[in-house]
Amino acid sequence: MENSNVFTLAGVSYVIQNTPILTGITLDIRSGEHWALMGPSGAGKSTLLRLFNSLISPTSGAIRFHGQPLESTDVGRLRKRVGMLFQEAVLVNGSVRDNLTLPRQWVRPVPEYAEEQLTEALERVGLTPGHLTTQARSLSGGEKQRVALARVLLNEPEVLLLDEPTASLDPPLARKILRLIADLQRELNLTVIRVSHHPDLVRSFAGQVLFLDKGRIVEQGPIVLLDQPRTQDFSRFLREAQA
Ligand SMILES: Nc1ncnc2c1ncn2[C@@H]1O[C@H](COP(=O)(O)OP(=O)(O)OP(=O)(O)O)[C@@H](O)[C@H]1O
Ligand SMILES: [Mg+2]
Repeated sequence: MENSNVFTLAGVSYVIQNTPILTGITLDIRSGEHWALMGPSGAGKSTLLRLFNSLISPTSGAIRFHGQPLESTDVGRLRKRVGMLFQEAVLVNGSVRDNLTLPRQWVRPVPEYAEEQLTEALERVGLTPGHLTTQARSLSGGEKQRVALARVLLNEPEVLLLDEPTASLDPPLARKILRLIADLQRELNLTVIRVSHHPDLVRSFAGQVLFLDKGRIVEQGPIVLLDQPRTQDFSRFLREAQA
């Protein structure tokens, strides 16, 4: 039977050029949970997120994915199951079709997507089949983020890592994309780990919250921590974020 923990982190640290960025991170993420990663700028939120799909590897400590050490999990397979959206969509030069189909060439074997799969993925994110031939560089920021989301969805991921994917969009468009992501979360029963600064937003999507400061977990647990923070640091952070 598969372990119901999707990710288990035990004493994970990440050091770069002798500077500790993350220290002693111990954390269980269970299937279907929606986690919010909060903390001041530079706390290590993006760095922590990158560990989950092996964009970087811990300097010490262990990460398990469904009970298996991450370093013995095939990276291509891992990144299909654990999709990621960044603050700004990362697209290659070329058409929207290129962007949707290119990642397939990194994962062997290489079955082509059926045309209906591409169409369905685009429609899911509010684009049309006509967009397949559009050059990625001519898309707006919101459209680019939709293409990035469609590309992630084609992999049928079970985990979504979101690093403030709407931070660079204007508020109405950001709300639209956040709603889209929330619908997909429910529809596909995704496990989600998402960086967010806004307590109100966090309340609307998260069941669990983790507060990082200077690379260490200060608080982690159910979302009720937002109303009953145990530490002065988290309490102050929430007050300032709310202001
Ligand atoms: N490749 C790197 N080289 C040197 N320092 C790095 C590197 N990556 C991250 N850091 C440092 O690690 C710390 C944590 O960075 P990280 O990007 O994870 O913070 P964050 O919590 O995501 O911040 P923000 O809210 O501003 O996005 C910062 O001090 C950053 O300068
Ligand atoms: Mg960041």
